[in-house]
Amino acid sequence: MCGIVGYIGNRLAVPVLIDGLKRLEYRGYDSAGIAILEGDKIEVIKTKGKVSDLANMVEKKKFMANLGIAHTRWATHGEPNSINAHPHSDCSGDIVLVHNGIIENYLSLKKYLEEKGHTFKSDTDTEVLTHLIEENMKDCKSDSFTDVLFQSLAEVQGTYGLAIINKNYPDSLFIARKGSPILIGKGKDEYIVASDVAAVLRYTREIIYLEDGEIAEINRDGYHVLNSVNDEVQKKVQQISWNLEMIEKNGYDHFMLKEIHEQKNSLENTIRGRLNYEEGTARLDGLIDYIDDLKNAPRIVITACGTSWHAALIGEYLIEEFAGIPVEVEYASEFRYRSPIINEGDIVFVISQSGETADTLGALREAKRKGAIVLGICNVVGSTIARETDAGVYIHAGPEIGVASTKAFTSQVMVLIMIALMLGRMKNLPLERGRNIVNALREIPKLVEDVLKNDRKIKELAKILSNHNNALYLGRGYNFPVALEGALKLKEISYIHAEGYPAAEMKHGPIALIDEHMPTIVIATKDAIYEKIVSNVQEVKARGGTVISIINREDTKIRELSDEVIEVPHTITPLTPIVNVIPLQLLAYYVAIERGCNVDQPRNLAKSVTVE
Ligand code: F6R
Repeated sequence: MCGIVGYIGNRLAVPVLIDGLKRLEYRGYDSAGIAILEGDKIEVIKTKGKVSDLANMVEKKKFMANLGIAHTRWATHGEPNSINAHPHSDCSGDIVLVHNGIIENYLSLKKYLEEKGHTFKSDTDTEVLTHLIEENMKDCKSDSFTDVLFQSLAEVQGTYGLAIINKNYPDSLFIARKGSPILIGKGKDEYIVASDVAAVLRYTREIIYLEDGEIAEINRDGYHVLNSVNDEVQKKVQQISWNLEMIEKNGYDHFMLKEIHEQKNSLENTIRGRLNYEEGTARLDGLIDYIDDLKNAPRIVITACGTSWHAALIGEYLIEEFAGIPVEVEYASEFRYRSPIINEGDIVFVISQSGETADTLGALREAKRKGAIVLGICNVVGSTIARETDAGVYIHAGPEIGVASTKAFTSQVMVLIMIALMLGRMKNLPLERGRNIVNALREIPKLVEDVLKNDRKIKELAKILSNHNNALYLGRGYNFPVALEGALKLKEISYIHAEGYPAAEMKHGPIALIDEHMPTIVIATKDAIYEKIVSNVQEVKARGGTVISIINREDTKIRELSDEVIEVPHTITPLTPIVNVIPLQLLAYYVAIERGCNVDQPRNLAKSVTVE
């Protein structure tokens, strides 16, 4: 998704802006651009392709500016080229801006502005904003630029995170937000604005998040934030605990590989201080005000997208098993538009790594509109979803930069296990079972480390899998969502078509696909329905399929039936998803490497999807 960086201060703006864009590259983009106030002129430089290409173009020019904005674009309206890249300018070249989001009524605005004599250079929706502001400047009686911004943005339908410079306000940087995140990093006599905290961490960890409808004017010596009715608001400055090292590769070839290998630590961070062996339960302080509501909830709805939705499915199994509360899981994009029924007392959980996913945010707001208590499970502290939920639990996985989510997934599942355990212990889950679960949870980081150490076999299998165009992932019970997640990982980064299925569903259709060209990856660790999985593997083998199974070390039956196996250590069934997904993450990674794919920036994908 698009990325925004802006700078005002006493340093040279260009290196700060380029560094910020590089930190946002992981989000996915196709073109990049920069605008700086150089002397009394705004210089705009844009290019299709990489931030490094842009850096080469600007560095030659030795700009001295210390005010500027920059952008990485992920095309929505108009093809990826240097003309459609941001920043965009008005006719005079005095007002220049970068934009994340979508202006839905841009066609009618464009028509109106063309009739007024404005000339458009690009095919983007964004460019209408520059001309609209220019047009409104003509008639505006106030000499406050923020007044003009309020007036202009009131005419806009859609979403925006904006950073704007105006040649006639040479000591100010303006930002605005509706539906697309934008924040201010507060330094000493300098401010870095960005759509993502990763771009500012090098300079500061003091962050001010803008809310929807707010506009800010930032000078070197301070900032003013105005709310949607143009009143000044005092904003809380949030301290971010992430540091620069956490958002660097630290010797790994890719962020994804680094994050896969971080999972021992990230899982330790997720459970730290939250388990209580004596009581056989978990303590989640973020939910403390809603404990009674949770305990008495007639139903829990969990909504999310993508990998977070897979975690939600595991949450359904967990909460129903441990706590006996009915759970429904729904894609956030469906939930928000289909008049979902929320009855009195129902609790809605939203799960989001980034805390900025537009569909999940839409579902959150829909659930609140319907009167539900909405609780969050987020990674990014201070993100929009974290702020807008009534309460919630942070997963503490640390920054996830790789586009394909890995460590966030395992930490989300870990949090769901703790929620289910806590609820279960408040209801009917016996103390001894609670204690067993706590013990097993404490073991998990070690088991994960164990799997990570044994990746030689997975690398070998990746060579075989990389020659196929399709793959089927099968799992049952707690490991059905793991099959979905394994398939998603493979298709996202290696572009091999893969489907996840509940193993028993295979015979209701997908079995028709089985032949020697369709490898099947079966998650077959020991549990109560192990024998059923044995039958499913036999069904694949009987049709000439190749089977790669994830099995426990002590397994013999599936080992004999399978063509290849990946061994994982044993844990109690509800915790198996965390251990079993690790080899599937590694498999997807090494297959993508075999196929020469760009793992950290897979085609067409973006890290946090802030548009619908
Ligand atoms: C898959 C992936 C996506 C995200 C989805 C939700 O690897 O990363 O499917 O899980 O876009 O994102 P969050 O969790 O940030 O709401």
